[in-house]
Amino acid sequence: MLKRKFSDEELRALIDTDDTEPLFKEALKVRRENYGDDVYIRGLIEFTNYCRNNCYYCGIQRGNTGLSRYRLTHDDILECTEAGYELGFRTFVLQGGEDLTYTDKEICGIVHDIKAAHPDCAVTLSIGEKDRKSYAVYKSAGADRYLLRHETAEAAHYAMLHPAEMSLENRKSCLWALKELGYQVGSGFMVGSPYQTIDNLVSDLRFLEELEPDMIGIGPFLPHADTPFRDKEKGSLKRCVNLIAVLRLMFPYALIPSTTALGTIHPEGREMGLRAGANVVMPNLSPPKVSKLYTLYDNKLCTGAEAAQNLNELRAKVEAAGFRISIGKGNVREH
Ligand code: 5AD
Repeated sequence: MLKRKFSDEELRALIDTDDTEPLFKEALKVRRENYGDDVYIRGLIEFTNYCRNNCYYCGIQRGNTGLSRYRLTHDDILECTEAGYELGFRTFVLQGGEDLTYTDKEICGIVHDIKAAHPDCAVTLSIGEKDRKSYAVYKSAGADRYLLRHETAEAAHYAMLHPAEMSLENRKSCLWALKELGYQVGSGFMVGSPYQTIDNLVSDLRFLEELEPDMIGIGPFLPHADTPFRDKEKGSLKRCVNLIAVLRLMFPYALIPSTTALGTIHPEGREMGLRAGANVVMPNLSPPKVSKLYTLYDNKLCTGAEAAQNLNELRAKVEAAGFRISIGKGNVREH
């Protein structure tokens, strides 16, 4: 599969180009060659908004004392997957803050029970930085995929977004461990996070070329009122959509979601992402009473087509954009 190689100069030009038509046209051609018109759906279960970390950009950071916190129990989560299965979901993404209340044994129990009830489904974990040993036991319990964005690939920029106890080095070593353990791995970054330069974005793409992840998630930075970045400017919609097209050309095989952040920054954002080459959407399967508490940023969408319960609304939007929702696990193509 031809992975396009771009020079740094070409990347900088593409990321900011206003002449988007040829870029999107080529990205769509590559997308169709690999995935046809299929858009895969993932049922996202945001099972805890407790987090031990204090990432400056994130609304569920532990320092945000004004937030009501929640945890879903094992049974709550299994109920979500039952409902999701009935709706047609065949991938469940368990995402949460880094909440050590859930022991490895409990995570394994949840993964095991979902896989036992639905051997035809994939289980994706997105629960942050853990020891290699923990990643290994989740894998043995049946976890198939793991999402962990690198957030930014330059250590100096990483340090501007995270407190000193976190490091890019550790983030990267987690990603390599996940790969070695045989997970389908997803990474990615925010577009327009504070202090980000265009060269940071080029470094993000270079790091992804090295890592070759199966899934690549990007979305615009959006400020949250109860974080140190409350007054920072939001990311650029244009850069984000252009970057999706660039990712499609560089990683033709990849699963690339049109993210909630993209849907939040613009009413047509989700569709713009799909038309630029994204091929995954991740509606929210969390119970409605908690989905408004998983506030990574202000005004995060959790209703309408964003709610898994309204799959028909999403289906209509995906079709209006020229694609169709595909039921199935939606595994990555061979690289
Ligand atoms: N704006 C946009 N994206 C954010 N994330 C966290 N906080 C924000 C924010 N303020 C993203 C991070 C994280 C993912 C779950 O959500 O990239 O990896």
